[in-house]
Amino acid sequence: MFTKSFATLLTIITAIVYLSTVTAFPAYGSLAGLSQRELDVILPTLSSTKPGTTPGPLKYNGTKLIYDKDHEWQPTKSGDIRGPCPGLNTLASHGYLPRNGVATPAQIINAVQECFNMENLTARFLTYAAFLVDGNLVTDLLSIGGKTKLTGPDSPGPATIGGLSTHAVFEGDSSMTRADDFFGDNSSFNQTLFNQTQKFVDFSNRFGDGLYNLTVAAELRNQRIKESIATNPKFDFTSPRFFTAYAESVFPLNFFVDGRNPVRALSMDNATLFFRDMKFPVDFHRAAAPIGGKGLRDVFAPYPIKPGKNINGINTYTPDPTSADFDTFCLLYTDFVTKTVGSLYPNPQGVLRTNLIINLRNFYSGIDADENCTEIFPYGKV
Ligand code: HEM
Repeated sequence: MFTKSFATLLTIITAIVYLSTVTAFPAYGSLAGLSQRELDVILPTLSSTKPGTTPGPLKYNGTKLIYDKDHEWQPTKSGDIRGPCPGLNTLASHGYLPRNGVATPAQIINAVQECFNMENLTARFLTYAAFLVDGNLVTDLLSIGGKTKLTGPDSPGPATIGGLSTHAVFEGDSSMTRADDFFGDNSSFNQTLFNQTQKFVDFSNRFGDGLYNLTVAAELRNQRIKESIATNPKFDFTSPRFFTAYAESVFPLNFFVDGRNPVRALSMDNATLFFRDMKFPVDFHRAAAPIGGKGLRDVFAPYPIKPGKNINGINTYTPDPTSADFDTFCLLYTDFVTKTVGSLYPNPQGVLRTNLIINLRNFYSGIDADENCTEIFPYGKV
């Protein structure tokens, strides 16, 4: 008798605890890596949305004014989310993305094409990669930052709500203006890091006459890697971080330089606007033609390094021959799908599974046909 009442009481308490956590679970919260028990409680509270159509390339793809009167910069309000990507942060602060920092993949692709002239395949590949591991596949929403801590009981929901700042699935180590996750804040602009000796501004002065150019990009990338090896016992520079780190080194040149400027070099004033203030320079015009990771191999070439990690504390960097590198691009795709996404979604059901399949297709659609990568279907087809 006592045992039965106690059991009933326990069920009621558990239900209340579940409910209070669940009501706190936002529609943009990532479902990646949640246990079946957590999913069982959270999924019924979300309204599912069919994934939006993937945008194609721009119709008019020349340069044009982006910082116009319809897209004034506004400071963030309480509750607005910003994260580790200065490009997306800027788009949200100018209203090209929802100002609260929560967007659909289609909104992100449209915005990076419209404002920076990011070429369509790059935009698709990056956006769906991030969305698969950091987004909510049921509601079709992604938060451009965020590892928001949930308050209250820590069961059954996750301790943190994932978004783009989630470490090690897309966001990674040795960023130019953000600290490694090991040191705490991997998401916010780090002024010290920006200004320190041997960092962004200093290297631009030393190697680029005050401008961030391709030479500076190569020096800084190498320096940031060396630093992480020497200071971060958890430093991980395997795929996908290996690829994104080099791509992000050229993004300031390809996207933050005004499209009317024939020289691909970024002033420190404009770098500060984008990286720190999340703001377009006055009269900003987007790139003159669609562009993606152009220059990436020029950043890699002077200091080639194999993907790897510190395996036993600082200064124990060891190449990982199983990681994809620039010679094995299709392995980046298959490993991302089977290992990264696979470990986060071991057994998805229902609408979650359907949307996962659709978004994996969208991700694959961002790969250039010339790469000759074979599409894989670990969750079947719809
Ligand atoms: C297309 C969708 C995009 C997604 C999902 C995305 C996501 C991210 C993420 C997660 C990071 C953090 C990586 C890290 O440092 O650990 C990052 C960094 C970065 N992103 Fe984006 N990004 C996108 C587009 C863009 C665009 C269009 C630009 C430029 C206009 C841009 C510029 C950068 C730069 C420069 C960094 C490096 C920041 C640093 O190292 O300090 N991104 N992005």
